Amino acid sequence: MATSKSTRKTPASPGKRTPKATVLRTVTCGDLNVTDVGTEVVMTGWVNRRRDHGKLIFIDLRDRYGLTQVVVDPERTPEGSAVLETAAETHHEDVLQVRGVVAKRLEATINANLSTGEIEVIAQQIEVLNAAKPLPFPVNETTLNVDEALRMKYRYLDLRRGPMRSRLELRHRMALAMRNFLDQRGFVEVETPILTKSTPEGARDYLVPSRVWPGEFYALPQAPQQFKQLLMVAGMDRYFQIARCFRDEDLRGDRQPEFTQLDVEMSFVQEADVMGLIEDLVIHLVETLSTRRITQKPLPHIRYADAMETYGIDRPDLRFGLPLKTLGALAKQGDFKVFQDALQAGGIVKGLCIPGKGNATRKELDELTEFARSLGAKGLITLTIGQDGAIKSPLTRAMSAAELGKITAHYAAKPGDLVVFVADGEKVCNDVLYRLRLRMGEELHLIDPDEASLCWVVDFPMFEVIDDRGQQRFHATHNPFSGVRPGHEDLVATDPLAATARQYDIVFNGYEIGGGSIRIHKAALQRQVFQVLGLNDAQITEQFGHMLEAFELGAPPHGGIALGFDRLVMLLAGTENIREVMAFPKNANAQDLLMRCPSPVETDQLDELHVAVKLPPPPENK
Ligand code: AMO
Ligand code: AMP
Repeated sequence: MATSKSTRKTPASPGKRTPKATVLRTVTCGDLNVTDVGTEVVMTGWVNRRRDHGKLIFIDLRDRYGLTQVVVDPERTPEGSAVLETAAETHHEDVLQVRGVVAKRLEATINANLSTGEIEVIAQQIEVLNAAKPLPFPVNETTLNVDEALRMKYRYLDLRRGPMRSRLELRHRMALAMRNFLDQRGFVEVETPILTKSTPEGARDYLVPSRVWPGEFYALPQAPQQFKQLLMVAGMDRYFQIARCFRDEDLRGDRQPEFTQLDVEMSFVQEADVMGLIEDLVIHLVETLSTRRITQKPLPHIRYADAMETYGIDRPDLRFGLPLKTLGALAKQGDFKVFQDALQAGGIVKGLCIPGKGNATRKELDELTEFARSLGAKGLITLTIGQDGAIKSPLTRAMSAAELGKITAHYAAKPGDLVVFVADGEKVCNDVLYRLRLRMGEELHLIDPDEASLCWVVDFPMFEVIDDRGQQRFHATHNPFSGVRPGHEDLVATDPLAATARQYDIVFNGYEIGGGSIRIHKAALQRQVFQVLGLNDAQITEQFGHMLEAFELGAPPHGGIALGFDRLVMLLAGTENIREVMAFPKNANAQDLLMRCPSPVETDQLDELHVAVKLPPPPENK
């Protein structure tokens, strides 16, 4: 990962007319090199490290721009100066101002890892601008094994560390690159409201009570979806926004309640227009902001159904093989009970061949089975093939050698391989085998960390059936504004599950980094989709009347996408948690440990908002 190194001179470099006495610094800690030898400088920064050699003290002074070695040598300081005494009393993270002269280091003491490694500053005067108490954790180490809660509580200290700082700089450079890229292509950035109305993106809303409208609420936007579509109706043609979104959902490593999207919408476009533009942008970002190699260009397109069959998930990690495969009719051979039970219950048998694992011990196989169980499987049927071709598997009890041969051929399994099977509903099979595949990819070292494997997933169904508090109902796979594939319009009413959406997702190393669609732009179809989703006419008018009305007042065909900004930075930075690339993230319980929120508020404030708090019953004491 590229760390940024400022090539500029200090942004605070004084103008010629600035009186010297008021200058806090003339250079930063990253500015100096051999060409500056002999120059008198004033620098400021934090004490990164102090090394005492009795009559000689070295201080590494640090700021955002770098690290400079300050030498306090009584033989080279003015007569009667207190500089050695002051230096001896400095502590880690004190904020200092150092006045000194740049000198070349002795050959043997040159530090090739530092841009300032050939010079040092001989201190003439040191002033402690602000002393620091002992820190709750050291900030001068790049690898940090500190409790994350502590890092969050003292985030401003955590952010002093080099890797954190360079991730924030990467965020900044990515935002800049996006803006430039889109600006050059005629896009206009428009800000849309944060206090708004609920828009369905599949999560719970954060609500804001209205003081002036008792009992009424704003919702924080889950995405600027409706506004950007309305901007197309407004004729903006090409819109983007680096937009803050809010979703009250269960948090994971790649999810935050408050996150950023690069939100894009375009008029008079089809799938290829949006996908082509975003593909160029993402490739540009990966290639200019990281050292990752993109595996395949142009990006492959994978149909949703194929992704589910082969990877068990709609965001496949394509950096390695290990395809999943349904066993199909072969599962019926030999009347094997575990398989028969699953098939009779309407399920499937699905498997995965793991090359080279045929020598797995009983213990390893039991451990894999436990893992599968922990993910919701009832168990795991294993089949190992010894180097001599001998098969060991519970299947041998029910199937002949010829039948087993068909199965191993189906998975292209060779001597020395392991095949594992899950028999269950399709969803359980996919969930379990998807994770098993990822685990095996890691364990077998099949993943090249320098690779960026990007793909598009297309041909999503318009609707899926979800369980809503015990009720089965239709749910829009992406959001209710996605268009339906030409020719599938009638299916929306007659056979919703068979209708294909004009949706596309972009996937990076197994993470969904973006999703979008060509939208519905006609009121009748949009109304029909809302009806499939179970809204009655009154609800449609109340919640989406403005959209339907807009669609009847000259709405162009349009479509767009949103990229998960934080996820993309996370992937470019090579970290595995979105919190690592956000300045002030929430923890896994959606709390901000630094500001200590959410937090109770005064009754007066609640009264003014016409809000009464109804607390849940306290948890029962066990
Ligand atoms: P979607 O809901 O797929 O689409 O969101 C787009 C992208 O935003 C990122 N993302 C998140 N990142 C961090 N934390 C979260 N909680 C979170 N939720 C989503 C993902 C995702 O791919 N309005 C549509 C876009 C459109 O159709 O144009 C939308 O929001 O990377
Ligand atoms: P049981 O019948 O529960 O004793 O399981 C016998 C073997 O079948 C064990 O190795 C289980 O891990 C495995 N097994 C049970 N149910 C399933 C299933 N639905 N899919 C795959 N393997 C299973």
